[in-house]
Amino acid sequence: MAINSAAIRWHDDHLELLDQRRLPAETIWLPIHGSDDAATAIHDMVVRGAPAIGITAAYGLALEAARLGDDASAAALAPAIATLAASRPTAVNLFWALERLQRIASDLSGAALISALKADAQAIHQEDLAANQRMGELGADLLPANASVYTHCNTGALATGGHGTALGIIRTAWSRGNLQQVYAGETRPWLQGSRLTSWELLNDGIPVTLVADSAAGQLMQQGKVQAVIVGADRITANGDTANKIGTYNLAVLARHHGIPFIVAAPLSTLDAELPDGSHIVIEERDASEVRSIQGKTLAPAHCPVYNPAFDVTPAELITAIVTERGVIRAPSTDTLLAHLRG
Ligand code: MRU
Repeated sequence: MAINSAAIRWHDDHLELLDQRRLPAETIWLPIHGSDDAATAIHDMVVRGAPAIGITAAYGLALEAARLGDDASAAALAPAIATLAASRPTAVNLFWALERLQRIASDLSGAALISALKADAQAIHQEDLAANQRMGELGADLLPANASVYTHCNTGALATGGHGTALGIIRTAWSRGNLQQVYAGETRPWLQGSRLTSWELLNDGIPVTLVADSAAGQLMQQGKVQAVIVGADRITANGDTANKIGTYNLAVLARHHGIPFIVAAPLSTLDAELPDGSHIVIEERDASEVRSIQGKTLAPAHCPVYNPAFDVTPAELITAIVTERGVIRAPSTDTLLAHLRG
């Protein structure tokens, strides 16, 4: 059974990705025929968001196996796995998905391997949607009545197999009639908040107010926000959480103002192999992303730039982590590892 989501369409002989760089102005779908196409799309931000990156990598590898045909084997797929793994370093879902498919490939070859990888890529896609729907229910239970919430980046259907992680909680809370307002931070430099989150929420009729990232403190000081809800790219064994640059700022502000700070992420985002956030590789992207927006110059041509794509929020600033398995309150190595053991 093929499943499609807001930004990922599977056609068995190829994949289509909604080009998220062009939203909301244009709706353009790009064809993906193998691992090189998939890796380029991930690196260039055609597709983004940790779960969506993992799903795309899985489909990319399955397509590469199909290209190899009778020669498909774990060894023959090694270069494709290396290319996909090098596309972006921080979201662990990418590596999680590749390792999952690699394990399947290790016992198979040819047609059997191809159909097993295609089936598992679709399973990863489907499981992510189900995980998000479950997180939506669990996370919505945590919100105060009729809350206004602040979110960062885009964690919605575009970033996942559907529904969303943090945005999934917001969608579920809205469907329960228990949400007043969403404040979406614009999320410089890629503007996932203004281009993507506002678009998704407006399409669903959920009240959203877009703010410059620097307005978050003012909103909290005025008592306009009752919870901050964000996603994650990698959560280490002690609960430290890498997410879109600016997330740490929000966690510090939320703590200062006594506002719950909630992280929503599927189990595929938990990386128990890293003891804490200091071990997470933080992607640094090109200076041009800060010096300009969509070709418009914002800074002197040679102005030095520091452009980390993610930051790490220490576990002590996180009120709760929501996964499809439940809620980890006051995350620590003990509570997180117990959660992973189920
Ligand atoms: O650089 P991006 O757009 O891939 O960053 C996305 C984020 O940081 C999201 O918050 C995270 O991947 C979770 S998406 C459900």
